[in-house]
Amino acid sequence: MNLTQEEQDMLSGKRGPGIQKCMEILVKVGEAFGAKRLVPIRSAHTMPKEPPTLLEEMTEGVTSLGVNICTQHALMSAFDPEKAEEMGLHPVFIENELKDYQKRDEIYKRLGFYPTNTCMPMLVGNVPLKDQHISWIGSGAQIFANSLLGARTNRDGVVMNLAAAITGRTPEMGLHLKENRYAQIVVTLDTEIDVNSLSDIDLGAIGYMVGKIAKNRNVVFDGLPNDMDLDHLKYLIAPLSTSGSVAICHIVGITPEASSLDEALGGNKPEESICINYSDIVKELSLFKLQEKKDIDLVILGCPHASIEELKFVSGLLYGKQIITGRRFWMGVPSQQYYLARKMGHVEGIEQAGGYLISSCMATVPDNPIPEGVKLVATNSFKVAHYVKALSKGNIKTVVLTLKDCIKSITV
Ligand code: F3S
Repeated sequence: MNLTQEEQDMLSGKRGPGIQKCMEILVKVGEAFGAKRLVPIRSAHTMPKEPPTLLEEMTEGVTSLGVNICTQHALMSAFDPEKAEEMGLHPVFIENELKDYQKRDEIYKRLGFYPTNTCMPMLVGNVPLKDQHISWIGSGAQIFANSLLGARTNRDGVVMNLAAAITGRTPEMGLHLKENRYAQIVVTLDTEIDVNSLSDIDLGAIGYMVGKIAKNRNVVFDGLPNDMDLDHLKYLIAPLSTSGSVAICHIVGITPEASSLDEALGGNKPEESICINYSDIVKELSLFKLQEKKDIDLVILGCPHASIEELKFVSGLLYGKQIITGRRFWMGVPSQQYYLARKMGHVEGIEQAGGYLISSCMATVPDNPIPEGVKLVATNSFKVAHYVKALSKGNIKTVVLTLKDCIKSITV
């Protein structure tokens, strides 16, 4: 790999042991994947789940980050240092998580990470532009950056991502190269479908189905209205990286690199074309359907994290209502949106009804510390339905209901 003089100095240890370690990681991975050079990144988004000893090692002697904007991903496993106990998470899990959280937090503060705690960093000011190289973590954030902003990130893991944030560089490979970003599968919706009338869960069902077909291939949706709002796009594309491992999904007319279908395909022929009709949506929804009337123990919303509009909507739905005793309600929200919502008066209604607004991973990835006694979870997110069921090895059943029906299912 061709390194600049500055990068060679970093690699040789002249800039300290932490930067040397990070550079070794980047060069090793880059060489394994045939990268010719490193490219500077414009922003990073890191996950506060590194083993503290590794974090210490990779930041030894480091005094500042290699990139100006480095937001932090949602805290993982539905963990919130202040609310975990009330939420009913297991005490042993809380104790362990708290220790690691405090150790990591000291380092984050010293180096200037932004404590945004969200999987939607673009909602809180981390907004890279078309063609800018970035290193973001979290499958939801990654697919958003690639697909809606046109910024370039791979599906970096915790270690690669931290090394990129510390050095301000990443190997030029995978989705950092234009030729790897073109769509391979074209998806259209049957003309009988009125996209504007699709609900949050209809859109999620489409994304979940397409993810299974696409696996790790690049997708393009053609024919969608170009005035879809961010929340609708969120429900549509987030599940692509859950049932599959799609990292970029062009939407013709919306994605900066897809002003036309031909541009999204890079002039190539698609490997596959699929058309989705209503019966496909119904079939996908039936995967997480309540077969008989049963009490919902826990409602989880905010995966990906809720926008201020969603918080406002939920606060309105909960106005004057109470969550039934013994049931629970969790909603994921970026730290800053929480404070904004509080200023706007949307937090009280939710909290007074008995709900929890937290800035962590609502699909409980990777530890699944859901309180004992919870047997049935309702959500409007296919990601939550998929992961909670899988991580609990099927011991917790999950159903997908619209946001309104989720609220209705646990309130009086
Ligand atoms: Fe966010 Fe976790 Fe869902 S990080 S996108 S809440 S899976």
